[in-house]
Parts: sequence; structure tokens; C-alpha cells
Amino acid sequence: MGRILCVANQKGGVGKTTTACNVAAGLAHAGLRTLLVDLDPQCNATTGFGVAPAAVHPLVSETPLHESLVETSLGNLFVLPGSRSVRDVERIAAAARQGSAVLEGHLARGLAAWDYCLIDCPPSAGELTRAALAGSTEILMPIQCEYFALEGLTQMIEVIREVMQERPGRLSFSGIVLTMHDASLELTAEVEAEVRDFFGEIVFETVVPRDVAVSEAPSHAQSVLDYAPRSPGARAYTELVMEVRDCE
Ligand SMILES: Nc1ncnc2c1ncn2[C@@H]1O[C@H](COP(=O)(O)OP(=O)(O)O)[C@@H](O)[C@H]1O
Ligand SMILES: [Mg+2]
Repeated sequence: MGRILCVANQKGGVGKTTTACNVAAGLAHAGLRTLLVDLDPQCNATTGFGVAPAAVHPLVSETPLHESLVETSLGNLFVLPGSRSVRDVERIAAAARQGSAVLEGHLARGLAAWDYCLIDCPPSAGELTRAALAGSTEILMPIQCEYFALEGLTQMIEVIREVMQERPGRLSFSGIVLTMHDASLELTAEVEAEVRDFFGEIVFETVVPRDVAVSEAPSHAQSVLDYAPRSPGARAYTELVMEVRDCE
């Protein structure tokens, strides 16, 4: 049975897409068949691997899902492209609201083929993120090392709690990853201490450093592991992947 990781945080710019793409790439590098599902209308996870966004989101299109999958140059990594259409977003959310569990159903049916599925969520704790959580087995939450890192997470945590209560034993918190970590900043140390104190052992030991290679990689349609394999960012994501695999 594959693991489905929902990469979510209601804040934007915290490293969700970057983490979804690079963890997916790291898993593929390890020989694991991995699917990256883009649920964000910004489609950055899609374009970050050089894939074109879909005219209609594959989750609500008439086309069978497997026909929408795009194989990346990494072989083991496939992308289910996002769509920029706000209407599609509303349709996915509406379907989830009516309990038709579009995402959950699709993922459950397709799961046998995948070792891992990562879902890149939009920056909100709204219906789309809720639908993604409902279809996932785990949450992977990036938190950026900045002021107010924890502020505004209340709504997100409330949604997670609700989905967990709706389906006991299915969804777990695989972990929190600190991103854009700068060891030379006192602020980073303060935020890290605060997050570790608040969330305890669900915070991954690996932190992802602020590294320009990480931000450059998508413009080369690559993960940082392929774009700059020796960079600190690539090393961090490789270690994070090992931790993610260990928490099975
Ligand atoms: N470790 C990092 N080092 C440097 N830049 C980063 C790092 N992680 C993310 N970024 C940059 O920060 C911005 C926001 O990251 P992104 O993953 O798109 O966040 P989100 O998906 O949460 O909105 C992007 O421009 C990305 O390239
Ligand atoms: Mg994003």
C-alpha cells in the first residue's frame, strides 16, 4: 500500500511546492515509483518539472486519470498536472464537499501503482486542502524559519484535526520540516526552538537551508537533486527523504 503525503500549510511562500518537488524527486532517485499531484492553480509543481498545466484538471476531467500522467526525465517520477482554472478548483472542492471524494477515490484506485504520492496544496486551509487531506495518509508541513512562523497556523491545525476525527487511524502527521533555514541568523535559531518546542518529535531533524540552487532548479525544469547534486539544498532534501522513509 502506497503512502500519500499531503504537503500543506495555509501560508504561501513557505516551501510547500519546493518540498513536494524535491522530496518526490528524492524518492524517485531511491528507485521508488512516485506521483506528484499538483492541486495548486498556480501550477508551480507542474511547470517546475517542465510540464504544461492541463486545460482541465485531470481530477475533474472526462479523460481517464492515467492518460493525464506525465512521465518526467527521472523515470520513476510522474506528474499529474494542475490546472490554472479557478472553475476546476471549485469543481474539485464542490465534489469533496458533496462527499464524492474525487481525490480520495482516484488515489485509492490508482494507489497500487505508486509507492509514494505527494500532493502539492494551495496556500490555504480551504476546501481544496481539506479534500487533499481527506485523501492522504500523512501530512508533510513545511514551516519557514521567519517571524510569525506559527502565527496563523491555527486554522490549518483545526482542519487537520477535523479530518483526523472524521477518519480515525487513517491520517497521521508524518512531520514538519523547517525550510529556508539560515544557521547564521539568530532569528532562525529562535524560530527553530519555538517550532520544536511546540510540535515536539514530529519535527524532522533535517532542516532545509536557504540555498539559491534550490530556487534556481525549477527554472531548469529540474529538482535541486539533479540541478545541483552537491549543493547544501540537495543534501538536505536527500536526508529529509531518508527521514520520511524511516517514519513509515
Ligand atoms: N531552501 C530554499 N532556499 C532558497 N529559496 C527557497 C528555498 N525553498 C523555497 N525557496 C523559494 O521560496 C519561494 C517560495 O517557495 P515555494 O516552494 O513556492 O512555497 P509555497 O509553495 O509554500 O508557496 C520560491 O521562490 C522558492 O524558490
Ligand atoms: Mg506552492
